[in-house]
Amino acid sequence: MHSKVLILDFGSQYTQLIARVVRGHHVYCEIHPYSMSMDEIKHFSPRAIILSGSPFSISNPLAPYPDTGIWTLGIPILGICYGMQLVSSHWGGMVQRAEKREYGCAELTISGDDVLFGGLDNCEQVWMSHGDALSVLPECFTILAKTANSPHAAFKHKTLPIYALQFHPEVVHSPGGKAMLANFLFAVAGLNADWTAGSFVTESIQKIKDKVGEKRVILGLSGGVDSSVAAMLLYKAIGKQLIPIFVDTGLMRYAEARRVKELFAPYPDLNIRFVDAGDTFFAKLKGVSDPEQKRKIIGAAFIDVFEEVAAEFSDAEFLAQGTLYPDVIESVSFAGPSATIKSHHNVGGLPEIMKLRLIEPLRELFKDEVREVGKCLGLPENLVQRHPFPGPGLAVRIIGAVDKDKVNLLQLADEIFISELYDSSLYNSTWQAFAVLLPVHSVGVMGDERTYDQVCALRAVNSVDGMTADWTELPHWFLKKVSNRISNEVKGISRVVFDISSKPPATIEWE
Ligand code: XMP
Repeated sequence: MHSKVLILDFGSQYTQLIARVVRGHHVYCEIHPYSMSMDEIKHFSPRAIILSGSPFSISNPLAPYPDTGIWTLGIPILGICYGMQLVSSHWGGMVQRAEKREYGCAELTISGDDVLFGGLDNCEQVWMSHGDALSVLPECFTILAKTANSPHAAFKHKTLPIYALQFHPEVVHSPGGKAMLANFLFAVAGLNADWTAGSFVTESIQKIKDKVGEKRVILGLSGGVDSSVAAMLLYKAIGKQLIPIFVDTGLMRYAEARRVKELFAPYPDLNIRFVDAGDTFFAKLKGVSDPEQKRKIIGAAFIDVFEEVAAEFSDAEFLAQGTLYPDVIESVSFAGPSATIKSHHNVGGLPEIMKLRLIEPLRELFKDEVREVGKCLGLPENLVQRHPFPGPGLAVRIIGAVDKDKVNLLQLADEIFISELYDSSLYNSTWQAFAVLLPVHSVGVMGDERTYDQVCALRAVNSVDGMTADWTELPHWFLKKVSNRISNEVKGISRVVFDISSKPPATIEWE
């Protein structure tokens, strides 16, 4: 049984970051809404609790509170930002609108030698983001650190293992924050760093065996990181009972089907069914230029093809999906449901249609953990580090109506861009990169001839989870080389532009 940490979410934009840092220290944790009941908390049986930040101030009448039972569990608790307000208010502290709001970096001056700050300097840069401050600290607390504007930037209970921080140790702008969280996990809470890719693999294989028994499992294999890792994990657990299906929609990256065949060639027992469904997809997409309509058509066509193939296996009882933890976390939103910007296609409709039970072996993992698990399973580095690729594929990277010729053109341009990123060792430091085909013709000159060919945009972004992103500052010599190669080698593209938009306000994909 692993040492588990419970992160109660009060709606902070940084809650997932807390979980990532805790997991990064190889301690298992889960995020749950602040309203989790005491029975559920006891059932989860955490060894420590972290209270997240929140868009609320505790002085707001609508402020969210956890079950008061958490304070008497006797386990270590760490309150961060709003969590700090909860800690102090439980013991009668006063919070007021701060005279000076603090946003951004601040210098933390640490006093004393508490274990929470073990191994750190007396002065640490930390990230503040609050409009309220604690004006009166309850007597049962000791101050551990202050900043110029926050005399109570860190404090702890005099007799209980309860800590509170005004700043955010989980963000990169608090460089010592990871070490502080490690100190909380190990020195304060006495947890073990026992959550590793290796332990995950061993335990998952057993869980899959127990769940699946002698039945068969169908899996949509796309060649992406998540479905490939899920495939290998299932294969190690149930061998030939796994039925991976690769649907070539015709909208995949350059030579994708061949690459997937090569990649899994060392595992002949992993008998992948390759279905070439390109013509069906192109026929259904003919003349359709609206991005959302394209997504819907592709989602439905994918289900049709998948169902047809899966119908051969009447003894299949499970459908495996590469669902990850960020899709599972029940997020706390006080701003109401957000508008649909893009309906991200997945095959969530399949199990109901096909009367299959779901199996989601990666549902506890963040993307970087999936990559670690992939490495542990022996998948090659170039596969586990692959950039994310959208389900609707190149259809959302060809602006306007899609046809085979445009896909061919885009595949060639994209392949040049991606292979140059690899050759220049820039691929792994870029979160996602791809080419986009614009519905614009522009005048060019080649030799002595006028050309009137298409424009291709290069997009490269850095991101943590795709929710926000910034464009990657690829070197000029590199962009020049890629641009030269594309306009020389891809007949039909005569102009290359580089996208310098961040998300927000733009999105990563153009459609
Ligand atoms: P956006 O364009 O929304 O993309 O900023 C964020 C991340 O999601 C991917 N993406 C998709 N993935 N189906 C998917 O499976 C989709 O329809 C889809 N649209 C965008 C995108 O590639 C990026 O990684």
